[in-house]
Amino acid sequence: MPVATLLLCLAWPQTTTPTRVLLSWTGDPSTSATVSWRTDLAVTGAVGQLALASPDPRLGKGAQATTATSQEVQLDKGGTAHYHRATFAGLKPETLYAYRVGDGTTWSEWFQFKTAAQGFKPFQFVYFGDAQNEIKSLWSRTIRQAHRDAPYAAFMLHAGDLVDEPDSDEEWGEWFYAGGWLHATIPVIASPGNHEYARSPEGRRLTRMWRPQFAYPKNGLAGLEDTNYAIDFQGMRIVSLNSNERQEQQTAWLEKTLSTNPQRWTIVTFHHPVYSTAIGRDNPLIRKEWQPIFQKHKVDLVLQGHDHTYGRKNVPTGANVRDPKSGTVYVVSVSGPKMYRISPEALKDMTRVGEYTQLYQVIKVERDKIRFEARTTSGELYDGFELRKGRDGVNSLVEIKPEVPQRTEPTPATGRRDP
Ligand SMILES: [Fe+2]
Repeated sequence: MPVATLLLCLAWPQTTTPTRVLLSWTGDPSTSATVSWRTDLAVTGAVGQLALASPDPRLGKGAQATTATSQEVQLDKGGTAHYHRATFAGLKPETLYAYRVGDGTTWSEWFQFKTAAQGFKPFQFVYFGDAQNEIKSLWSRTIRQAHRDAPYAAFMLHAGDLVDEPDSDEEWGEWFYAGGWLHATIPVIASPGNHEYARSPEGRRLTRMWRPQFAYPKNGLAGLEDTNYAIDFQGMRIVSLNSNERQEQQTAWLEKTLSTNPQRWTIVTFHHPVYSTAIGRDNPLIRKEWQPIFQKHKVDLVLQGHDHTYGRKNVPTGANVRDPKSGTVYVVSVSGPKMYRISPEALKDMTRVGEYTQLYQVIKVERDKIRFEARTTSGELYDGFELRKGRDGVNSLVEIKPEVPQRTEPTPATGRRDP
């Protein structure tokens, strides 16, 4: 196929100009940052430049160059792209930096980011459930409203099913379009969902698009790189489990990771919920393998997706087991437009549920409390609570009055889930 025709076929054609620039962490967030981006195959000498941020527009003069690694990725509808990755290391904590990526001739704009503090410091972050469908049309408003509400979020966390078709370059293009420059300035923490797994003759495999885009510390199980990992950020350990494969093998890793955890707060994210909210859904393996460990180690929050509804429940734990408002809080949420129905059991069992409501969550972390806010794409507080840490490490939960009534469909869900 002639090149010009091929380019016309591609919804998101590549050139030498960097696109899909995304910030993440492969090392300590207080001293390093990793950036990935893509270009066409013509770019071979990819490089990242880093400087201390400054209002002086000549900030690039003394910039330090970091050579990127590059890999060729086959796209689903034909064509190839070069994905590049550079890690800026040896950075100063709590310092504002500026960086750009390019090939020495063609550059991205300068993006700014701040390194984390060493040790505890208050911060906030955003958590999203499945974006997945009509990402440009209907998910873009979710991430943009989230940014309005939490402009200084330390990171944005995605609990799987970022797209619907795992290898679809068009859908990943929409995901990057929706978030735009936010992905390049606010680090992304992502855990894969079932829709990041493609069927292949050898069985299910992680999409070819995952690892070139999302780079994380290599401290998880071998073979599950960039999907199973832990990151420590300003007094919080953030754990990503891969709920799609080798779940039993991750149990021992999880136990070890949590039993050697010196951080004040702990959150765990993965895709398939411990307590399902949608009709006809259950993940007994996940519950059997991981739930006892979350309770044992007093995990504060478990952030999940998959069920295309909202649901929140806490499971009392530890010395305060008689206190119904203690223990790990399990949340399922959805940020995109695909919706399922709440099961009758979840309707009865969960503190707060939601149907047909696109949401994002802003989570504010302080020394002695976490404030959790689920907000609609209109910015209204849909669900909220505070976790107050007791001296024994057991939290007590304090409800925050939502601004809007619970949103469920007028007819109760029966039978199978909606298509
Ligand atoms: Fe999903």
